[in-house]
Amino acid sequence: MSDVSLEAARRRTFAIISHPDAGKTTLTEKLLLFGGAIQMAGSVKSRKTSRSATSDWMALEKERGISVTSSVMQFPYSDRIVNLLDTPGHADFGEDTYRVLTAVDSALMVIDVAKGVEERTIKLMDVCRLRDTPIMTFINKLDREGRNPIDLLDEVESVLGIQCAPVTWPIGMGQRLKGVVHLVSGEVHLYEPGRNFTRQDSTIFASIDDPKLEERIGAPMLAELRDELELVQGASHPFDLARYLAGQQTPVFFGSAVNNFGVQLLLDFFVEHAPAPRPRATTSREVAPSEPQLTGFVFKIQANMDPQHRDRVAFMRICSGKFSAGMKAFQSRTGKELKLANALTFMASDREIVETAWPGDVIGIHNHGTISIGDSFSEGEVLHFTGIPNFAPELFRRARLRDPLKLKQLQKGLAQLSEEGATQFFRPLMSNDLILGAVGTLQFDVVAYRLKDEYGVDASFEPVQVATARWIRCDDARKLEEFREKNAMNLGIDAAGQLVYLAPTRVNLQLAQERASGVEFLATREHA
Ligand code: G4P
Repeated sequence: MSDVSLEAARRRTFAIISHPDAGKTTLTEKLLLFGGAIQMAGSVKSRKTSRSATSDWMALEKERGISVTSSVMQFPYSDRIVNLLDTPGHADFGEDTYRVLTAVDSALMVIDVAKGVEERTIKLMDVCRLRDTPIMTFINKLDREGRNPIDLLDEVESVLGIQCAPVTWPIGMGQRLKGVVHLVSGEVHLYEPGRNFTRQDSTIFASIDDPKLEERIGAPMLAELRDELELVQGASHPFDLARYLAGQQTPVFFGSAVNNFGVQLLLDFFVEHAPAPRPRATTSREVAPSEPQLTGFVFKIQANMDPQHRDRVAFMRICSGKFSAGMKAFQSRTGKELKLANALTFMASDREIVETAWPGDVIGIHNHGTISIGDSFSEGEVLHFTGIPNFAPELFRRARLRDPLKLKQLQKGLAQLSEEGATQFFRPLMSNDLILGAVGTLQFDVVAYRLKDEYGVDASFEPVQVATARWIRCDDARKLEEFREKNAMNLGIDAAGQLVYLAPTRVNLQLAQERASGVEFLATREHA
C-alpha cells in the first residue's frame, strides 16, 4: 500500500453536533486528553480565554456565551490520527456549521440525558442526512437524574429518524449510577468518580456473570439490570457496520463527560469503526483519497485571527494525496497555480507550521484575500469539488457610518468579514448603499463589533427594504443585458462580483421571475 493509502486509512475526521450545553466542550476536552494533546482537563476552556486575549472581538463571544469561531484539533490515538472539527455553537451560524459538516467524514451527536433530543440537534441531524454522514451518539450527564434510557432511544429513533444500536448500557443513573455494560464485549465498567480516566484506572469485570459484580452493585440492582438488558436486546438493534456507514443506524453510548466516564469506550469504538476519508465528487470525476496528487477544498475562512498581522487563514480539507510545505497547486476558481506556503496545523492548542499532511487532515493557509470559501486546490489538473453552497441570506441591513470619511475602511471591512461566510455583502447597482445580509440577527452585532475593533470603523445597521436575494444566472448574453436594464433598481453585486437580485418583497420576486423567462434565480450559489 502506498503512503497516501496508509495515512488516509488511519485518519478519522469528524465533528461533534449537539444542542448548546449538552456537553460538547467538556467531551472535546476529554477526547483531547486521551490523545495526549493537552495535559489537564479544563484546557479547552482556558484556551478559549487565551484566544480571546489575542483577538478582542472574542470578548463578544464570551459575553454571549457562544462560540463564534470554529477550530480544528488533531490528536493521535491508538495508531490513528483523529481530526476534530469544531462547529460553531450558536443557532445563528447554521451556514457556517453546514460547511464544516461538508468537510468531515462522520459526526458525533451529544445528547443530554435529562433533555433528550433538542431543537438544534434536529437541525444538525437534517444537515448530516443530506450527505448520509455516519453518526455515533453519546448520551451525556449520566451522573445526573435523567430520562429512561429506553425512552431516549425511542425518541432518537422517532424524532431523528435513525435506528439506534446501543453499544454501552447504563447501570443506574444519577445517585444510583454504578457503571455501564458494553453490549458487544460484555464487559462491565464500574463508575468510580475521580477515577475512570483510562481502562487501567477503572474496575472492569469481564461479564455481568462475574460473582464480584454482585458484591459491588448488590443483588437487587443486578437483577434489575438483567431484566433491563433482556428488554433492550429484544427491543433494539445490534450494531451493524454497513448500516452505520450508510447513515441509517447510530451506535449509542452512555456516560458522563465531566467525569470522563464512558468516554474511552466511545473513543475506542470510534477509531475502530468510524469511516476513514472517502471518495469525493468534483464537477468532472470522483477523487479517491489514495490518489497520489494533492486535492482539497476550502470550507472556512477566518479573518484577523491575529489582529497584529491582519492575517487571513483559509481552512482546507485535504481529499487526496500528500501535502508538503511549499508545494504548488491549481486554484480552481482562477485556474492559476498557487504556492501553498506557511500552512498551519492545529495540533494541541497552538498553531504550528506543518511539513506534511494527508487526506482527512485540515491545514490552514495564510493569505491576503486571494482564497475564498469553496475554492478547490489540486495538483496536476484543475478540479472543482462540489457541494459547498452559499445560502441566500434572510435578513438584510444597510450599513450606516458615523464618520463618512471612513467609507473605504467600511467597504474593506465588510468585504473581508463577508469572506468568512457568516454574512454576505451586496452593493446595489443604482445606489451607494452597502447592504449586509445574514442568516441570523446576531451577525449584525458581531460585524458592528468587529468593524470597530479590527477596522476602527463606527458603523450601525438599519433596516432596509430587502426581503430576500437570488443569484442571477443566464447563459444568453443579450437576454441578460435586457434583464439588467429592466431590473437595475433591484440588482446588486455580491462580494465575489456576482449579479444578485435584491427583492423588496416576496411578491416582487415572484413577478420578476415570471417576467424574465430564460433567467435563473438561484437561492444558493455554489462556490465556483
Ligand atoms: P456545550 O459545549 O455543549 O455547550 O457544553 P459544555 O461542555 O460547556 O457543558 C455545559 C455544562 O454541562 C457545563 O456546566 C458542564 O460542566 C456540564 N457538564 C458537561 N458534562 C457533564 C456531565 O457529564 N455531568 C454533569 N453533571 N455536567 C456536565 P456549567 O455549569 O455550564 O459550566 P462549568 O462551570 O461547569 O464549566
